[in-house]
Amino acid sequence: MASQKTNLSTRGEVFAEPKSKIPLLDVICDLWHPETNPGGYVSLGVAENTLMHEEIVEHITKNFAIDSHSLTYGDGFSGSHRLRDTIARFITRHFNPVNPVTKNQLLVTSGVGQAIELSGFCLLDKDDGVLLARPHYGNFPVDLGYRVGAKIIGVSFGETDPFGPETMDTYEKALADAQRQGIRVKAFLLCNPQNPLGRCYTREVLEAYMRFCQKHNLHLITDEIYALSTWKNPDFPDAPGFTSVLSVKKDGLIDPSLVHVLWGMSKDFGSNGIRLGCVISQDNMHFLRAVEANSYFSCPSSLSDLVTSRILSDDAWVDRFIQTNRQRLAENYTITIRFLESHQVPYKKGGNVGFFVWVDLFDPIRRQVNTTLKKQVEAGVPSEKAPRALEAKLQEKLLKHRIFLALGADFGGDVPGWYRIVFAHEKEYLKLGLSRMIKALEAFRSELDTDIA
Ligand SMILES: Cc1ncc(COP(=O)(O)O)c(C=O)c1O
Repeated sequence: MASQKTNLSTRGEVFAEPKSKIPLLDVICDLWHPETNPGGYVSLGVAENTLMHEEIVEHITKNFAIDSHSLTYGDGFSGSHRLRDTIARFITRHFNPVNPVTKNQLLVTSGVGQAIELSGFCLLDKDDGVLLARPHYGNFPVDLGYRVGAKIIGVSFGETDPFGPETMDTYEKALADAQRQGIRVKAFLLCNPQNPLGRCYTREVLEAYMRFCQKHNLHLITDEIYALSTWKNPDFPDAPGFTSVLSVKKDGLIDPSLVHVLWGMSKDFGSNGIRLGCVISQDNMHFLRAVEANSYFSCPSSLSDLVTSRILSDDAWVDRFIQTNRQRLAENYTITIRFLESHQVPYKKGGNVGFFVWVDLFDPIRRQVNTTLKKQVEAGVPSEKAPRALEAKLQEKLLKHRIFLALGADFGGDVPGWYRIVFAHEKEYLKLGLSRMIKALEAFRSELDTDIA
């Protein structure tokens, strides 16, 4: 007999299943510390930038003084007037918009994850399709799927440069395929700068995407959460920098009411825990009214509101912060790729933004991987399932060696064996994580060799 204690909703039952548990929790509740938890996990799997924590903590501590307004519902549920004004000014200073952003064109949420969900809730009906390049940030399907009920249509580019204008043909085909399956495609979600590939889209490509959205009447939702985390890659000095869709003239390209931009504090200010994001839509008040009506569920804490206002209004400090952050990110990127090169681990080249490198961990053990897969298929394992199963085993091995990396399969990666390494951590921590990764890979190779023999 089923337990009488459960009695959840149908929805609740789905999320009560162990497979719905947030996989990160085991890792982040048991993190490595040299004295208190040397056996803990080194996490190079979560997109957190800890390189500037000292500076952020100092700024908050020095400037934090709350007033009685912060203990009330303040100016409502989508950010104080002060904060919306400050963000509008900040975005206008740093994103080079064609028309200055004003506080009435944006609403504040408790993080960009919430901004994505809220945008999805207001723009999409259940089962509507959303085009999204693969590989992609792992939580997009959760943000738009769990409660909104929309469907991500992952688009793979194979050998085509995923940042080039040729991608247009692939998107056209993906859209047509989805429509043939009866899916109403309603939006195009673009992550620019891109997570996990760490590159930016050029103005030319953004314009092509705008034309495409106009042609098919799609909302263009651009997640620009890594906008200011660009840096110089000495191996690719000409890699395109960040261009916001706000800075692209829409005339003749797209109805501006279809364009929506998301940004927040988590990445560019290394402050995932502050939980603060925003939705900017310069020409769609109707959409913003729908967002505002639902903002009670995504209301930022007034303390985060206050802290963010103080940070973003300190222009001189922000400018210094961005520069130092860029230098530190570039340094850590170089440490990481040189380490990968010295261990013959291939990675996607050309990155100049964000905190991550997309790496192929199957490649250094290719002979063992291929032989194992061949044997498994001969033993009856379906050939399309075997590589993913092997990848999951490698993930287990990494975790056993107390190193957490983001598994490509969780990021819509279409080629098994790829992982995302986050390098925006203090150097000793980063190096410890990388060396644990190599030890785990060596152990996996030996295990496969034994199984093959
Ligand atoms: C592309 C992208 N969007 C949104 C988020 C979520 O951001 P927030 O912490 O503001 O909810 C992340 C976090 O990793 C991300 O990488």
